[in-house]
Order: sequence, then structure tokens, then C-alpha cells
Amino acid sequence: MKLSAIIDCDPGHDDVMAILLAARTMDLRGITTVHGNASLVDTTRNAQQVVEFADLTSIPIAKGFAHPLARPPRYAPGVHGESGLDGPTLQPPTVPLHPQNAVDFILESSHSIPNLHLLPIGPLTNVAAALSLDPSLPARIKQISLMGGSLTFGNATPAAEFNILCDPEAAHVVFTSGIPIKMIGLNATRQVLATPEYRKRVRSIGSTTSTHVADMLDFYSRGEGGHTGLPGGAMHDPLAVAALIDPDILTFEPMHVAVETNGTYTDGMTLCDGRHLGEDFRAIKPRTRGAEPNAEVAVVADAKRFWELFLDILATYP
Ligand code: BDR
Ligand code: CA
Repeated sequence: MKLSAIIDCDPGHDDVMAILLAARTMDLRGITTVHGNASLVDTTRNAQQVVEFADLTSIPIAKGFAHPLARPPRYAPGVHGESGLDGPTLQPPTVPLHPQNAVDFILESSHSIPNLHLLPIGPLTNVAAALSLDPSLPARIKQISLMGGSLTFGNATPAAEFNILCDPEAAHVVFTSGIPIKMIGLNATRQVLATPEYRKRVRSIGSTTSTHVADMLDFYSRGEGGHTGLPGGAMHDPLAVAALIDPDILTFEPMHVAVETNGTYTDGMTLCDGRHLGEDFRAIKPRTRGAEPNAEVAVVADAKRFWELFLDILATYP
């Protein structure tokens, strides 16, 4: 049976890959949008365009927060372009938005859908706002699988990953909520790249969707790869989906994760207590000190296994 989920996103090239993967492998009950890679207006339009070209218009899209809880927004045009989804040529969307805002949509869904999973792959503002509005929400969420943070270094700053840095106060609310969390951070996602070989395989599928995806991955790989020096953009966001559908793609270790909201150099850092881990980030001894783990942190990713899954799923689209 498929797991029920809502994906909370800021599309964003890799967000699109996550939507496409989740829509086929999960019981995807909604897409909620948030500021992040671009403005909320842009990320919401991008989500609408995706459901249109991929023939997923039965999945409701609810618009969320345009701003972080306590800071001005920051965007990522250097990676995702001015639109948040530069590269492919997409039509202006006509699919209507859901009448509820993202926070109300998440809260209402948590009452009507048993064992609901949340897949936040952008700044955590919507999820944190839902938790603040209804403190009983954690009891109705089965699990959160989020893309954000890092066990090692960041991308937006030496210490911080982009999604967490966009709204550290929201991330703190989520990591202290008591909901079981899988954290898929940069240390793991950088192991799965859209290399030229995989981009070629995407394009060779030959469908409308795969052509748009190939155009996206080419643009994104120039931007992200340009920053990191790696031979392609990292498949950050779809790995948060993969974590729930194939237990063999990512390996996790339980850790306590604290979010820095006030550091001079470390603002937005996910401080992972890995004092029981070896150099390969796997446990070498029992944990004997520190706070109880509040997250399963991804440490190793199987890139080949991820790509076989993703390419198979992509081939099912029109
Ligand atoms: C994260 O930031 C965004 O640019 C991507 O969509 C991903 O969610 C990676 O740091
Ligand atoms: Ca994202």
C-alpha cells in the first residue's frame, strides 16, 4: 500500500523531480508551496506548470507563506534562475489553486488522512506555522522526511544549507516537535548527481515530461555544478521522497540535531551530535552522552539505485 503524503516545496528544479517521484510512488494528497528558491508567486506558478505538463492536475496545490517567520526572504537565482525554474519552455498555467492556504490544508489533511507523511523540501515555514497553530499536530503525523541541513558543511554558507538558512526559526520548531524526522542533508544528497550520463538517459526517454526534465537538469547542473565543482546538480529533494519508498537508497544514523538560530558564523547550521560516529559517519560505539536523538540523519546514498528508480518512474509520464 502506498504511503500518504503532502509535499511542501519551493520549485525549484530538484523540487520538480521530487514531485514527479512522489506522485507515482506515494499516495500524494497535496502540494503546498512556500518561498525559497524564488518568490512564492514564482514557486507556486512553477508547481502549477509541473502538474499541467505531467498530467497531475488532480493533485491539489495550496499556496503557503511568502516570508520566513522572522526574517526577510532570500532566493536562489544563481542556481534556479530568476523564475525559480529556468531552462525549459513552459506554458502559463491554468489549473486553479486549492482555496485553502497551505497551513490550513496541512492541518485539515492531518485530521482526515490517517498516517500522513510530510515531505518538506523547501524552507520549513509552512510546517512550523502549522505546528504553532495546532500543538496537537505531531500526534497525527506519522513521519517527516525533509531535505535540509547537513552533517558536514553547508552550501548557502560554510555552515548552513539553503532551506534551513532561509528560515532557521521554523526549522527549530520542526526539529523540536517530537515528530519522527528523517533528515536528508547535503552530505548525503551530494552523493547523487545529475551527471552528463544520467542527463543523457533522461533525455533519451523522449517524452514531453522527460524533455522538460532534461532541460531543467541541464540548467540546474550548470548552476549547482558551477557552485560546487561537481559534474552535475545534486538530486537533493527527490532523495527525501526516495527515503520513504526504498529503504536501500539511503542509510541513516540516529542523532540529536539542533538548529542554530543566532550564530555569528553558524546561523542556520544543523548541529548534529555525531560523537559516537566514525570517520564514515556510521556508529562505532554506543552513544553515551548528549541529548536523545530527534532525527535519523542520512549518511550514505546509493546513487545508482536512486537513478534506476527515478528513470523508471520518469518513463511512465506523458
Ligand atoms: C535545497 O535548496 C534548494 O535550492 C533546493 O531545491 C533544495 O531543496 C538544497 O540546499
Ligand atoms: Ca527545494
